[in-house]
Amino acid sequence: MAEMNDIYEKVMDVARRRGFVWPSSEIYGSVAGFIDYGPLGAMMKRNIENLWRSFYIVQEGYYEIECPIIGPETIFVASGHVKEFADIMIQCPQCGEYLRADHLAAEHGIEGAGALPAEAFREVLYELPCSACGERLGDTDVVSFNLMFETTIGPGSQRRGYLRPETAQGIFTDFPRLLRFYRDKLPFGVVQIGKSYRNEISPRQGMIRLREFSQAEAEIFVHPDEKRHPAFHRYADYKAPLLTIPQQLENKPPLTTTMRAAVDAGLIANEYVAYFIALTHRLLVEIGVDPARLRFRQHLTDERAHYAEDCWDAEVYSGRFGWVEVVGIADRTDYDLQAHARHSGTSMTVFIPYDEVKRVKRRRIVPDMGMLGPKFRGRAKAIAEALVASDPGKEGVTVVVDGEEIFIPADLYQVREEEVEVRGEEVVPHVIEPSYGIDRMLYVVLEHAYAEEMVGDEVRTVLRLPPAVAPVQVAVFPLMNRDGLDVIAQQIAGTLAQHGIIAQYDDSGAIGRRYRRQDEIGTPFAVTVDYDTKEDGTVTIRDRDSMEQVRVSIDALPATVCSLISGTTTFRKLRA
Ligand code: GLY
Repeated sequence: MAEMNDIYEKVMDVARRRGFVWPSSEIYGSVAGFIDYGPLGAMMKRNIENLWRSFYIVQEGYYEIECPIIGPETIFVASGHVKEFADIMIQCPQCGEYLRADHLAAEHGIEGAGALPAEAFREVLYELPCSACGERLGDTDVVSFNLMFETTIGPGSQRRGYLRPETAQGIFTDFPRLLRFYRDKLPFGVVQIGKSYRNEISPRQGMIRLREFSQAEAEIFVHPDEKRHPAFHRYADYKAPLLTIPQQLENKPPLTTTMRAAVDAGLIANEYVAYFIALTHRLLVEIGVDPARLRFRQHLTDERAHYAEDCWDAEVYSGRFGWVEVVGIADRTDYDLQAHARHSGTSMTVFIPYDEVKRVKRRRIVPDMGMLGPKFRGRAKAIAEALVASDPGKEGVTVVVDGEEIFIPADLYQVREEEVEVRGEEVVPHVIEPSYGIDRMLYVVLEHAYAEEMVGDEVRTVLRLPPAVAPVQVAVFPLMNRDGLDVIAQQIAGTLAQHGIIAQYDDSGAIGRRYRRQDEIGTPFAVTVDYDTKEDGTVTIRDRDSMEQVRVSIDALPATVCSLISGTTTFRKLRA
């Protein structure tokens, strides 16, 4: 096992050398916060995203949509991002470097400084050293820096736009159409996978803090008074380690409990949040996160996003970065839909029919147009409309028309008491949001998969990636590059490809070196064609983790490899 303090260097060395992750625009000097995925990284990322889809689209039955990365300013004014989506920044008076002030304070053991007023924050920072030049910061201004990338749409720079800071807003602005798509019924879920952008102040954590990153988000629209998940039974008995607010305040370790018990005890706000905590735990373990280094931490009240009521982070332990948030599961309430309804004037409600029609008494205001017309002439219609919406007293009512307050005496309208039938009510749904950071997931999986072990007197580097996540699923080798073994091996690689398996043919160098090359990129299985193949039509399958081999016939090979990759069989069972 690599030493904890150098794990990052070792993982990133493999990632760079073997084509997982590269600095972006490297030939011109790379810019912090941007990365390129090389051939293996792009493949692995796609595998993680597809596994995510198998959970959210195949199993949960949610549909995926795709919205633009650039949105007009109005969206983000409504969502609150223009006003609220900011971090606290200082500029070092000595070296001029911009620094994230709360992170700098936290590096020196001062947690929660972000909640302090600016003046108190300045005092906290006064004695601290700049993390770039090491000089004492002294007197420095604490300012708020909005994290959205701004752009203009079209020529003339007239229309301001932003690169989306989360994929979620596209789903919210499509809500009326999505509601129709789902036949006007709650609950329903919609997902989106795509790039989002945050102009981070000083990103110095490799793949953990990127300015361009990939999110996989699900927005589940639920009845505001009914946060019981209809399929909660699926995860009611599932256990996950929970670090609640009280445990954090009392410095206690996480407690591992079932989702049912956590909801019943009020530790988790509702069944939906608990359901997605459990689902996320399962998904993360399936992509290769070590369950012993995974926990769910509830946000403290002062760290919640401006839209969130309750929020839990799936945190994964990294030997380099400590506990890293990779998923956020938030109850966003009706914050976003209410905001978009207000700013756009579009209704964001769902009609919920009652089980039985209700008869309710209602007051109806009936303006007397015969009297209003001659008295108010051109304004009579607007006054009548204001009257209908008013709540008059005994003597009359004051209405506002075109900014002018006008008193309308009670003899200019009638108040009728009526009994009406009400078939249901309009509600603004609440939103439950599991939001996954794909790049962070990929990094922590690489870190947890990375291992070094002695084989004979050599160090073997191996990525123990789950077969469904590994960028290359099977390697195919001829033992020797002659006697027709190479032709058979190429045919086998072609057949495996026809079965949808990502197979890599390799005939260069000694067989031992070829195994090591595949171990280092996490290829779970290697098929070798040898001289017995020509005799009996069998090949060996070698298991990456145990390095054991088993012989199978060429005819059975595609089905066997498919079962090994999907997990419907294991190498151990195959050998038994
Ligand atoms: N949509 C949640 C987030 O981007 O943090």
